[in-house]
Amino acid sequence: MKLAVFVSGRGSNLAAILAAGIPVDVVVCNVPEAAALGHARAAGVPVLARPDQGSRAERDAWVVERLRERQVNFVALAGYNRVFDRCVLEAFPERIINTHPSLLPAFAGGVDPEPLRLALEYGVKVSGCTVHFVTDDLDHGPVIAQACVPVLPGDTVATLGERIRGQEHQLLPAVLRWFAEGRVHLDGRVVYAPTWP
Ligand code: GRF
Repeated sequence: MKLAVFVSGRGSNLAAILAAGIPVDVVVCNVPEAAALGHARAAGVPVLARPDQGSRAERDAWVVERLRERQVNFVALAGYNRVFDRCVLEAFPERIINTHPSLLPAFAGGVDPEPLRLALEYGVKVSGCTVHFVTDDLDHGPVIAQACVPVLPGDTVATLGERIRGQEHQLLPAVLRWFAEGRVHLDGRVVYAPTWP
């Protein structure tokens, strides 16, 4: 598996992927000052920086070309704050995954911390994270794996977010390993994969 990880911000999931020993071929980042870049550089992973200029179609076509040059064949979104142009989905069919800080399909569509804020607003008692396939239906691609956490009295976006990220940091590297080992199969919108935990 030749893996590209897309990031825009803090990069704690990227750090978890690297700490788990998953080989990352390139980190793609659209935010020049993103803390995630520090994790990539510290691990000696090449960075492809592509600020949000020009049209989305142009930007994404440029990125696809660069990834093809590197023979990337798998893409993981780890806190990437942009929606892809179709050209990316077409370049990597069934080979793009994302982690989202809610139990999808609940609280789909928003960027962190919006799903956390909604979980607190709705008073749900359980939340968590979802690793799913990326399709053109935002945050509604087939679910690969989920991990639950309790929502506790007095929780804030910060405390709930930290609890959820604790799970993501284990789940996302595990799912990447499953793919590398050929243990994930998609049938319609149902995914057959190892159970978690
Ligand atoms: C995570 O909560 C992830 O679910 C969401 O964005 C956040 C990224 O966090 N897609 P980090 O940048 O990996 O720390």
